[in-house]
Amino acid sequence: MSHSDEQKGTRRDFLYFATASTGAVAAGAAAWPLINQMNPSADVQAMSSIFVDISGVEQGTQITVKWRGKPVFIRRRTADEISAGRAVPLNDLIDHSAENANKPGADAADENRTLDEAGEWLVMMGVCTHLGCVPIGNASGDFGGWYCPCHGSHYDTAGRIRKGPAPRNLDIPVAKFTDDTTIQLG
Ligand code: FES
Repeated sequence: MSHSDEQKGTRRDFLYFATASTGAVAAGAAAWPLINQMNPSADVQAMSSIFVDISGVEQGTQITVKWRGKPVFIRRRTADEISAGRAVPLNDLIDHSAENANKPGADAADENRTLDEAGEWLVMMGVCTHLGCVPIGNASGDFGGWYCPCHGSHYDTAGRIRKGPAPRNLDIPVAKFTDDTTIQLG
C-alpha cells in the first residue's frame, strides 16, 4: 500500500468514526428520556423474571412463553421421550457441553438438561442455534424432538442438535420450580 493510499484509508476511517459518533450522540439524546422514565429499577428487575403456570400442560405437549423478548419452550415429556433421550450415548452428540444456565459446565446428558430429576420437564430457549428461527416442536424431525425448517436442523427429545447446520443444542435458561405448578424463568 502506498503512502497516499494509507492516507486515504485513514481519512475514510476518520469520516466513518466521525459519522458513527455523531449518530451515537443523537441516539443518546433521544434515548435519555425513555431510560430515565424506566429508572425506578425494581419494576424493571421484576419484569426480568416471569412465573409460568404449568398446571394445564399435559404429557406430550409443550407451551411457548415469551421471556425477555424470546420464545421459551416448556415441554412435559412422555416416558418414551425421556427414555429416548436417556438412551443416546454422549459420543453420538454433536454438542457435548450444552449451554445450561442451571448447571454451568455440565455435559449434555439428558439428565442434565431437565428441570426435574424424573426428566419430565424440559425448559429451553425456542431459538435455533443456527440463525435464530423458532424450531417446530411436537416430536418433530428425524429424532422426535424439534425441527427447524429454515435450513433443516434436527433436535432430539432433549433439544440436542443431532443433524443439520445448527452448531449447538438449544440453550437452557435460568429456571426453577417455585411450587408444584409454577416455573420461574430468570
Ligand atoms: S435457523 Fe435453524 S436451521 Fe438455520
